[in-house]
Amino acid sequence: MSVRILIGAQWGDEGKGKIVDILAPKTDLVVRYQGGANAGHTLKFNGKTFVLHLIPSGIFHDGCQCVIGNGVVIDPFTLLQEMDAVRGMGVEPAGRLFIAETAHVILPYHKALDKANESSKGEGKIGTTGRGIGPAYVSKTSRRGIRMRDLLDAGSLREKLDEALIEVNLHLSSLYDAPTFTADELIPDLLEAGRQLAPYIRNTSDMVHDAIDLGQSILLEGAQGALLDVDHGTYPYVTSSSPTSGGACTGSGVPPLAVTHVMGISKAYCTRVGNGPFPTELDNELGEQIRKTGHEFGATTGRPRRTGWLDLVALRYAARVNGMSELVVTKLDVLDALDEVRACTAYRVNGVETKVFPLGCETLEAVEPVYTTFPGWKTNTIGITSFDALPTEAKTYLDFIESYLKVPIKIVSTGPDRTETILIEE
Ligand code: IMP
Repeated sequence: MSVRILIGAQWGDEGKGKIVDILAPKTDLVVRYQGGANAGHTLKFNGKTFVLHLIPSGIFHDGCQCVIGNGVVIDPFTLLQEMDAVRGMGVEPAGRLFIAETAHVILPYHKALDKANESSKGEGKIGTTGRGIGPAYVSKTSRRGIRMRDLLDAGSLREKLDEALIEVNLHLSSLYDAPTFTADELIPDLLEAGRQLAPYIRNTSDMVHDAIDLGQSILLEGAQGALLDVDHGTYPYVTSSSPTSGGACTGSGVPPLAVTHVMGISKAYCTRVGNGPFPTELDNELGEQIRKTGHEFGATTGRPRRTGWLDLVALRYAARVNGMSELVVTKLDVLDALDEVRACTAYRVNGVETKVFPLGCETLEAVEPVYTTFPGWKTNTIGITSFDALPTEAKTYLDFIESYLKVPIKIVSTGPDRTETILIEE
């Protein structure tokens, strides 16, 4: 039995979808535990590319059951579309996909609030995905949320919507001068979505505990990344959920002592979408080259991602906050053409070098990265499947990362396809 948490160790987009897809054949249950359709988990196999936003990335493996956990915020209409798209790939979600009855619903007004809130901030905006994530979590924590189980009960849905709309409409009209919503216009579509989703909605907490009791293999699939965590990330430039390993337990119902592995995923370099500090950013030609080679454009919004060198200070922080027991390095091949490769190994703050990741954005904006430089390997590593076959310079780089973090590297990804992967055995 294993209960493995899979987390993004940077600012998201580390390649979690591909890694879940690789681990899924040995997994009985995959549980998505936080976030919503702000995520875009890309999978590539049999010459096709597929992006999942809500459905766990284990769906393309027959033996694997998939749960959208209680910590996820679900746009039911996006989910229904995604289920249809999965069917289009020849996979029937019925009997394989389960949705937590306690997961909260993203409603059209959450998206309206997200957009209105962002535009009101002008230059100071977070750069959200506009999917209504933050406002949906606000509804949840203010105890005015609608849960998936409410979509199955017309009476309860109306009562809760009526109550929620009092505050929502006040916000929309008085703060943003934006159009308001009525329960009457929302309810028919929501009940129809509930009717279609009813066979999938259940007590997934019980399912997860039964799987633990049976000694099954469970994978808890995170979205976004540690540095976007609402508590541990670069606040306020964060998402509104907890992608870190603690969030995996609350967002799935898995108790902490059941967890056997915490796998962190990092690119061989660094990216960030949206605003916020990024000490190793390469806002220059080299950054542009990495963006082009790595196809660094958002899988959900299409926005160009900011690119930079690997930041080991930030990664060490992520390793500590998550209790990372193993590491995956993705997109090594993107660095193939570079003459030299750098990794930030300390920050200089007021003239003093430190390995401590500062928790205030103002301090993080002001740090000066201290780099260790490695010779580039200048050889094609795309599709290499054994560590020994990597060029010496690439091995040196990976060995350095491992020894800096004191976390063993278990997987190296050398291309987007499922097959382009190095699995490092014990
Ligand atoms: P939100 O999650 O849409 O509220 O956006 C908050 C911040 O998280 C923004 O900077 C987004 O760009 C970022 N973000 C949200 N989801 C992802 C993701 O899946 N990958 C990378 N960044 C993300």
